[in-house]
Amino acid sequence: MKAELLYEGKAKQVYQAQGESGKLVLSYKNDATAFNGGKKDSFEGKGRLNNEISSLIFNELHAKGIETHFIERLNETEQLVTQTEIIPLEVVVRNIAAGSIPKRLGIEEKTPFEKPMIEFFYKNDELGDPLINDEHALYLSNVTEAEIKEIKELARKINTHLIDIFRSINISLVDFKLEFGRKSGGTIILADEVSPDTCRLWDRTTGENLDKDVFRKGTGDLIEVYEEILKRLEAKA
Ligand code: C5P
Repeated sequence: MKAELLYEGKAKQVYQAQGESGKLVLSYKNDATAFNGGKKDSFEGKGRLNNEISSLIFNELHAKGIETHFIERLNETEQLVTQTEIIPLEVVVRNIAAGSIPKRLGIEEKTPFEKPMIEFFYKNDELGDPLINDEHALYLSNVTEAEIKEIKELARKINTHLIDIFRSINISLVDFKLEFGRKSGGTIILADEVSPDTCRLWDRTTGENLDKDVFRKGTGDLIEVYEEILKRLEAKA
């Protein structure tokens, strides 16, 4: 299924799909990084878990009418997706203050945001993915003002669906990061992944972290918590 390796990121490899123009194979790696590559490790099974979790979530989003690049899961660690031109923006949606925002803006940890807060970070490893505003995005990311508005609207809509999906498995969706891509015709669709690598997920009963924060903070077993997310999603499906 795979042909040429086009790109290797921190968590995935991207291949051209063999004989299928306009399609890519994403291969999920076992590597985990945090703090812009400052902390690194590898966990047997992580690639499989994120591939399976992201596939289930993208299928649920499709069922709710959200267009994404996801076509199908091919095997344990790979999925077939539509090729898009990735817009170099990390679109973060926050429902509850956690992670970088309390430190940056002096907001008390765990404060809920009545209106989910959207932030843009410029996807650029060399610069450490800096926080940017809409004008920077317009200048740096080859998007129009109307597309910035559209990306924010899509991110809010996806947030309401993801909140519902996670609430149904007794999890609070604290925050998450999305990436969007442009299809050949110009339409902007959801790309990349939605997984415990890219979301903050708190158990609604115990408050326990069920995401990459256990690795960032060294507070738990990454594989155990990712298994827990997959188990709950599969039980619901
Ligand atoms: O660190 P911060 O609080 O800004 O992260 C917000 C959300 O975006 C978290 O859910 C985190 O997992 C996700 N994120 C990501 N990739 C990055 C930066 C943040 O998936 N490069």
